[in-house]
Amino acid sequence: MKHYYDNRAPEYDDWYRGIGRFARRDRPGWDEDLQGLQDDVAALAPARTLDVACGTGFLTRHLRGEITALDQSERMLEVAAERVPGAELVSGDALSLPFDDDSFDRLFTGHFYGHLQDPDREAFITEAHRVASELVIVDSARRPDHEPEEWQERVLNDGSRYEVYKRFFEPDGLAHELGGGTVLHASRWFVMVSSRSRQG
Ligand SMILES: C[S@@+](CC[C@H](N)C(=O)[O-])C[C@H]1O[C@@H](n2cnc3c(N)ncnc32)[C@H](O)[C@@H]1O
Repeated sequence: MKHYYDNRAPEYDDWYRGIGRFARRDRPGWDEDLQGLQDDVAALAPARTLDVACGTGFLTRHLRGEITALDQSERMLEVAAERVPGAELVSGDALSLPFDDDSFDRLFTGHFYGHLQDPDREAFITEAHRVASELVIVDSARRPDHEPEEWQERVLNDGSRYEVYKRFFEPDGLAHELGGGTVLHASRWFVMVSSRSRQG
């Protein structure tokens, strides 16, 4: 995965912007839903926030407060550094966060949780609640043209191919999975859920 995301960093935002390899995808309502998601991220109350797996910082830039952004890909962090100059950028592993307990008010993560299989999924949730009291997850919404979980072949501009595990979420289902939570965004393309504790 590290190799894939390092290689994808310069072209990652093409997915958001609907350009390059994504120009011909039929994505009705994408721009409106993406704007709505960004508005809802910006509406989160200012807080000491850790953005885990921040990627290029496309969503990080909308977070308010004291922002720390972590990713394992140096090339992703290079793009994020330009986009979010006010954030502290950290190279590290989401499953073993280099921070003390309760270092943050909120752990935010976009389009990362849905790539995790057990036991990494459990390990991440445990790590998230160790370092922050609130966990906010943004991910892809369940859609009729995808299975709830699947292996996808991803092709980069240089023709390299990767197999990627990916889940798609119903907002209430994600909230339930997190042991209870609040749905902060639900659209055709995206979900955002906040969870304060894990009760089972
Ligand atoms: C699909 S991108 C999401 C980027 C961004 N959060 C967003 O919503 O657009 C997934 C990101 O997770 C990072 N990543 C994957 N595994 C990681 C890990 N174990 N620790 C930290 N970052 C990781 C990748 O480098 C990549 O930047």
